Amino acid sequence: MSTFYITTPIYYVNDAPHIGHAYTTVVADAFARWHRLLGDDTMMLTGTDEHGLKIQRAAEENGVSPQEQVDSTSVLFREAAALMNIANDDFIRTTEPRHHAAVQELMQRIYDNGYIYSDTYEGLYCVGCEAYYTEDELNDGNCRIHDRPAEQMVEENYFFKLSAFADQLLEYFEQTNGVVKPDGYRNEVLGLLKQELRDVSISRSSLSWGIPVPWDDKHVFYVWYDALINYATAAGFGADDAAFEKWWPNVTHIIGKDIIRFHCVFWPAMLLAAGITDLPKYYVHGWLLIGGEKMSKSKLNSVTPKQLIEGDGDQGFAAFGVDGFRYHFLRDPPFGPDSDFSYEQMITRYNSDLANQFGNLVQRVITVTGKKCGDVSPAPSADSPLAAVASEAYEATAAAWERAQPPIAFDATWRLIRETNEYLAANEPWKMDEGADVDRVMGDALEAIRIVTILASPAIPEAAQRTWERIGMDGNVHDQRLPEAAGWGGYPGGVALASGDPLFPRLKG
Ligand code: MSP
Repeated sequence: MSTFYITTPIYYVNDAPHIGHAYTTVVADAFARWHRLLGDDTMMLTGTDEHGLKIQRAAEENGVSPQEQVDSTSVLFREAAALMNIANDDFIRTTEPRHHAAVQELMQRIYDNGYIYSDTYEGLYCVGCEAYYTEDELNDGNCRIHDRPAEQMVEENYFFKLSAFADQLLEYFEQTNGVVKPDGYRNEVLGLLKQELRDVSISRSSLSWGIPVPWDDKHVFYVWYDALINYATAAGFGADDAAFEKWWPNVTHIIGKDIIRFHCVFWPAMLLAAGITDLPKYYVHGWLLIGGEKMSKSKLNSVTPKQLIEGDGDQGFAAFGVDGFRYHFLRDPPFGPDSDFSYEQMITRYNSDLANQFGNLVQRVITVTGKKCGDVSPAPSADSPLAAVASEAYEATAAAWERAQPPIAFDATWRLIRETNEYLAANEPWKMDEGADVDRVMGDALEAIRIVTILASPAIPEAAQRTWERIGMDGNVHDQRLPEAAGWGGYPGGVALASGDPLFPRLKG
């Protein structure tokens, strides 16, 4: 058994959650669920990023205090996580006292170690990114992400000696395999590290909505350097040493490609400066685009998770249900590159993989078994041709998770569903007489369903548990342990089956 700690970025609370945020969170949750199936001691963290100028301005625009702004919007992210069936172990808010304490402790250590100094800073600042840029990094003075002019700022700031860590960081990312997945993004990190690393400003004196610098309370920390520390706070940094020692060496950050520099350059340097030598691993994904543009509330093209999960007649959105919603985001966008969000693709995927392939298989097997095999279910045969298919499906699924490729993992799992459907089509058990032959075919199909249900559970947790119960399995599918539980022959037979409503009713396109 190992230990696995996975985090999402913490979301800005200037606006409500949209499906770009949902994507990151669902993927992180599926990784956590997969690791729980492997028997790993697992912690999943998500939360909200609540300080900084962007939030202060959003509060001003909304005519509320910053505290009111963050309280009311953080709840929306918490609710969205619940709606998406995210099994997070913790939800961190950067305005919590535990986080204030951790930030001050970690920054004080960096200061005491001599890596922070004071200086004047003048530069071009994008409030959308909460980041300074050089002229070269801008497009005619406009931020490339937000397409708005960067603002000239002059401030007396504290600076972090990022430049002192260039070699150590390069060594970490060059020599440790699999630190950044997919590998293409590791090259991007190496590219950033090979440029000159300039020291960075980490405090602001013109802003009050932040965590005070412990050695100079006229300053607050610049929001990113407070935010990054959330991952350490939740692991117990400065408060629970045993917890921190357990979780920290096993941390993986899921991030969008837009926040690579902060996570892969600044953050590990801060950890090293504070004397923490265990550095994170990263799973990096691309952007979900709508019509070729990054989705964002400010560009008015956002779709909310709720609209797709519960349906929205006004917008013409069907109700995908929580599992239908999750499955799309795990199966369709390739993990790494950018991809266009397509409602049509979401409908097609749902109807083909969930309604036709998975839902129909379960329904049909339960119906035919009820008609042909008496009151209780048959057991699988030891020499079933599906045994090898199941074993290959498990191996391929596990390998894809290891490579951080959820879409490939679910494709491999669905191969077992498709082959089981083909096995039924070839044997036509509905035409067979009652007896040993039909018992064998249906026992094999039930066993394939049992295995599929476990492997698919990180994507479709509710339908997986309902299926588990319908085929007469005891307990909870989420408590199964791999690889043992995927071994052929685990279905006991001799149990009562239960039919029910279609697991995934077909949706109209
Ligand atoms: N608050 C910072 C992160 C601090 S982490 C210490 C932030 N917040 S954010 O709300 O703007 O975005 C958070 C993350 O949401 C992005 O990095 C990305 O992972 C995800 N996404 C936001 N929009 C997205 C898309 N359109 N597509 C894919 N992911 C998107 O940055």
